[in-house]
Amino acid sequence: MEDTILVTGGAGFIGSNFILQWISEVGTPVINLDKLTYAGNLRNLEQISSDRRYQFVQGDVIDRHVVSDLFRLHRPRAVLHFAAESHVDRSIRGPDDFIRTNVNGTFCLLEEARAYWMNLPESERQKFRFLHVSTDEVYGSLGPADAAFNEETGYAPNSPYSASKAAADHLVRAYYQTYGLPTLTTNCSNNYGPYQFPEKLIPLVILNASTGKPLPIYGDGRNLRDWLFVLDHCEALRSVLARGTVGQTYNIGGGSEKCNLEIVETICAILDELRPHDQVVPHRNLITFVKDRPGHDRRYAMNICKIERELGWTPRESFESGIRKTIQWYLEHEEWIREVTSGAYRQWIATHYAG
Ligand code: NAD
Ligand code: DAU
Repeated sequence: MEDTILVTGGAGFIGSNFILQWISEVGTPVINLDKLTYAGNLRNLEQISSDRRYQFVQGDVIDRHVVSDLFRLHRPRAVLHFAAESHVDRSIRGPDDFIRTNVNGTFCLLEEARAYWMNLPESERQKFRFLHVSTDEVYGSLGPADAAFNEETGYAPNSPYSASKAAADHLVRAYYQTYGLPTLTTNCSNNYGPYQFPEKLIPLVILNASTGKPLPIYGDGRNLRDWLFVLDHCEALRSVLARGTVGQTYNIGGGSEKCNLEIVETICAILDELRPHDQVVPHRNLITFVKDRPGHDRRYAMNICKIERELGWTPRESFESGIRKTIQWYLEHEEWIREVTSGAYRQWIATHYAG
């Protein structure tokens, strides 16, 4: 189908936000290939599930047959590769799936994309893009006075997750340098917003605080992250896809560096206002310092001058407005929360935060 895009991992947090935004603002067909791991949730895409422009295919990016069939049948003009194992703590407890999906899965997708792209007519070959969605974590950790990461910063990943993403980034680079596959790579900072699985800091804290459970803060809570509202990330990806220079990488960030303690206190203050009758108020009384994450990166910060200058993208949402929208979304979506916090989730929380 003309103008179709292939999205991998579109049932996850960022992928589903991306597809919803794409259908409403671009409107061309989307194929969503997702394995539906614990992190994938078709509920996120319920509002477009019967839209003729959207098609879901359950499958693994590592399955070459599935991927090659999708290329052959749908002839996409671009791939947006979100599919990954994405949680650092899970990568520490069990790295295997991270290597399998993030490294080998990306390799398989690249191989199938290359085979497809090489046989396209010249005009379509020119237009084809492979956009790989990556992370700021590949750059490692900054000291308090260090300059923010830019696109020239050397890679120094510290967790199995970030190492697997770094490996994938290198493969993507190599496919451009060696074969000329028209790739684009984006490295983005921490996202937050609707549909984020509540194993990650912000949704975990919203959920725990509103149900009177402890708010676990690793170490001293002074680790810094640069937070970006998810729909801003999705817009940035659309800019890179439309106007990015092939073979290049683009940093994406929110210009909103905050330490974890500040994030948790901000959420608690907003909940004090919105939910004055919760079990524990003020909600900050639930803050609990717990054992630190091994190899915990101290600080990430993104220099986003390149994408601002070359593509004219800049974040729209301030942290203050974005976090309020996010909290309201979680408070209004109890059913979604009930579903995702069923058995497997409870087991993860019980094991990970035990003791
Ligand atoms: P997520 O964990 O919420 O979603 C991942 C999705 O990928 C799920 O739907 C899952 O079912 C699917 N998936 C996993 N393994 C698969 C496989 N083998 N085949 C097909 N599908 C598979 O992740 P997210 O937070 O939405 O992150 C999406 C991408 O963005 C990832 O590549 C991540 O590294 C990157 N990223 C995330 C952030 C962030 O803050 N969340 C920031 C920067 C970059
Ligand atoms: O920087 C981009 C990355 O952001 C993405 O590539 C990852 O996919 C995404 O998961 C995220 O990684 P982080 O490790 O930064 O996110 P997380 O929400 O797990 O943790 C944010 C910070 O909060 C981090 O410093 C660890 C801390 N934390 C997290 C949890 C889950 C706590 O203090 N307590 C917690 O219970």
